[in-house]
Amino acid sequence: MSADERGLAEAGEIIRKGGLVAFPTETVYGLGADALSAEAVARIFEAKERPRFDPIIVHVASPEEAEELWAEVPDLARALMERFWPGPLTIVLPKRDVVPDIVTAGLPTVAIRMPDHEVALGLIRAAGRPIAAPSANRFGKTSPTHHEHVLEELSGRIEAVIAAGPTPVGIESTVISLVENPPRVLRPGGTPLEALREVVGELQAEPLAVKHGPAPSPGTMRRHYMPRTPLFLLEPGLPGDGWERIPRERCGFLGFREAKHGFRYGEALSEKGDLREAAAKFFAALRRLDSMGFSAIVAEPVPEEGLGVAIMDRLKRASQGIARLNQGDVWVKRL
Ligand code: TXA
Ligand code: MG
Repeated sequence: MSADERGLAEAGEIIRKGGLVAFPTETVYGLGADALSAEAVARIFEAKERPRFDPIIVHVASPEEAEELWAEVPDLARALMERFWPGPLTIVLPKRDVVPDIVTAGLPTVAIRMPDHEVALGLIRAAGRPIAAPSANRFGKTSPTHHEHVLEELSGRIEAVIAAGPTPVGIESTVISLVENPPRVLRPGGTPLEALREVVGELQAEPLAVKHGPAPSPGTMRRHYMPRTPLFLLEPGLPGDGWERIPRERCGFLGFREAKHGFRYGEALSEKGDLREAAAKFFAALRRLDSMGFSAIVAEPVPEEGLGVAIMDRLKRASQGIARLNQGDVWVKRL
């Protein structure tokens, strides 16, 4: 057995005993527990300080394992698994009784995906059971794309982190519900809507205006992914009445192709304008800007196509309002 295999075997043993293991997936780090044990999953909610009404995604190592957890598997689900698994697509379908209610927050459905990451798949196989895992951050905060991020927020609350450096996709999975007709995208993510439409045909993809409570997808809250530093989305135009001025040097800039834009400090998500690169860098850049003591972060919108839809979804939920520039200063309006 190699050192890596020993590590996975040990981590699998922790899961089987009801412990929590943070692990990399292709999207973000997950905080894993035995999906078939209500007690183990309860510990995820405690460690994350996550409200019990927010259900958790179950991770499997093959489509067959998913079919053992779903009560019904329409042909469309098989077509989606065939095309997009392993990968950043989570599918919601009616659950079987073996899935504890705490996993689904009492919903009659369960969200399942097969991650495209050797470590994640190795852990699921080593544990010998499906693994329930939300993103490995405190509830409502910026998602972790590196094992260091996990340690910053969850150290002392979990049994282990499998350290494997940055996650390649960088943004969470797309969540699609096949319970609705036509199917509905509950959260845009690492699988672009354009690709989904090729398989699904008609798709409901407009953002849900859900703020509180369980249905239809509790994670789609208005405020999520929040940095400590207030974030504002840059838009064209001049400030009007009731806008608040913030000196430009007190703001950090999160740009798409351009890092500075006249700010003292800024970061470009992708100088060549590549939305995949932008998604991969997004959460880490947000975290860095958040740690620098600025009064505000000003974020530039990215094009809403491909992975840009998922990035803009995160930016809107992370933001407290909008920003405009005038005569060297930043003006913001809280919304
Ligand atoms: O890429 C990902 O999806 C990552 C990695 C770790 O797999 N996980 C992740 O989990 O982002 P989390 O808990 O941060 O987000 C799960 C989303 C939430 O929006 C939740 O409401 C939704 O999936 N969800 C889970 N189960 C659901 C269900 N039965 N019906 C509707 N939405 C569900
Ligand atoms: Mg999350």
